[in-house]
Amino acid sequence: MTKDRVLIFDTTLRDGEQSPGATMTHDEKLEIADMLDEMGVDIIEAGFPIASEGDFRAVSEIAERARSATICGLARANYKDIDRCWEAVKHARSPRIHTFIGTSPLHRAIPNLTQDEMAQRIHDTVSHARNLCDNIQWSPMDATRTEHDYLCRVVEIAIKAGATTINIPDTVGYTAPVESADLIRMLLERVPGADEIIFATHCHNDLGMATANALAAVAGGARQIECTINGLGERAGNTALEEVVMALKVRGDIMPYQTRVDTTKIMAISRRVATVSGFAVQFNKAIVGKNAFAHESGIHQDGMLKNAETFEIMRPADVGLAASSLPLGKHSGRAALRAKLKDLGFDLADNQLNDLFVRFKDLADRKKEVYDDDIIALVGLNDSVEDHLKLKHLRVVCGTDGPQTADLTLEVDGKDQSVHATGDGPVDSAFNAVKALFPHSARLQLYQVHAVTEGTDAQATVSVRLEEEGRIATGQSADTDTVVASVKAYINALNRLIVRRTKSAPGEDVKGVSYKDA
Ligand code: KIV
Ligand code: ZN
Repeated sequence: MTKDRVLIFDTTLRDGEQSPGATMTHDEKLEIADMLDEMGVDIIEAGFPIASEGDFRAVSEIAERARSATICGLARANYKDIDRCWEAVKHARSPRIHTFIGTSPLHRAIPNLTQDEMAQRIHDTVSHARNLCDNIQWSPMDATRTEHDYLCRVVEIAIKAGATTINIPDTVGYTAPVESADLIRMLLERVPGADEIIFATHCHNDLGMATANALAAVAGGARQIECTINGLGERAGNTALEEVVMALKVRGDIMPYQTRVDTTKIMAISRRVATVSGFAVQFNKAIVGKNAFAHESGIHQDGMLKNAETFEIMRPADVGLAASSLPLGKHSGRAALRAKLKDLGFDLADNQLNDLFVRFKDLADRKKEVYDDDIIALVGLNDSVEDHLKLKHLRVVCGTDGPQTADLTLEVDGKDQSVHATGDGPVDSAFNAVKALFPHSARLQLYQVHAVTEGTDAQATVSVRLEEEGRIATGQSADTDTVVASVKAYINALNRLIVRRTKSAPGEDVKGVSYKDA
């Protein structure tokens, strides 16, 4: 192995699966193992064969089907565990036994072994494992809280007994980057035979430093990173595979180390692990979170549209994503709205865009995310009609007992007028109020409500068709409040009727919709 090569050891199926609630079925484990193998992970820790029949079966099957990765099983420091582990991995093209024991004062106290007794146990178990398999990994659990002299002593014993990889676990996520690097450096300097084996780093994320600690250990001389997809693992999880691999890829200038991982497969496996483990990925998770390649603020969207490198250090395609997303929301600016409209096939003049932008901001203030369909609905409502009637205020009271009431203020040809009306339901009372303020003989031919987008904050688009003396006028409006959308659509249709009264002959259709493609 060249000096700049870093092995990726994935333990999603062992440490990851061990985290409470993340249990996977047999078939799911095989599927994840296949994906890991396919993406170029060097070593897959497939499980803990002594733990259960299920674990044994999964490790054995993964060992048999793996095409390129080394398949590893975990075993405590006793012969029974090690034999069972060997039984499970032995059919792999490249098998490995990983055996461990807790070496810090707190962990030595559990089996109640003296330092010498533990040293003897390490010698015996590693030798036993090495007699079965020539690829042995040994871990002093809680290494980062183990006295340095004792750590050096037991690492030397394990190497002499035949370990080919020494893993230095930060079992409780206690170390920090500088210390993580120094610890590996110290072991390389002090332990005889250390340059003959590979040092691995296995970091937990209790203080949020797992990725930084793993990379620091590499700077200190480690050449194997243990990690999991999405950072799954005990408590706060492990180093996330996607983070270390992408950090090495993007910052090769200061971390000149190579992995064999095909990074374009990252998103697919991240999604699959999230689904099968039931552990959803947080939106702002590095590399694989929903927002990792999403830009909402106006300045960022504008920059992205001009040159993606202004706000992106990786290309979405590098991790297997089709494209960055520029979700429209309240922080988006005109440039993003114009780009979105262009994508949707709308070509608006500047004054139309300005008008639409005001309505878009108003909507975005009330909705978390503005979807394409919301924009289409807004554009559809953007054509201008001279407004004889304008909605100024509406308050509707609904309930299970008593009539529904509406307090409405309309501006009618420049003058505010208010009324209180009742009706059979909130929409009926609001429509009655409109009729009281602007008496007319138009008949309501159609009243339709559509939820344009998902969620309880979805916009409702309301269509209202009125008929008066053979003239038909259709009005539309969208709002997150269905009654408000209804009244606006009603008023929109009335405004069109008023225009038609003066400009057209009876029977001519008037539509308040102007979608470019409709
Ligand atoms: O965190 C840890 O110490 C482990 C060992 C079994 C390597 O997972
Ligand atoms: Zn662990």
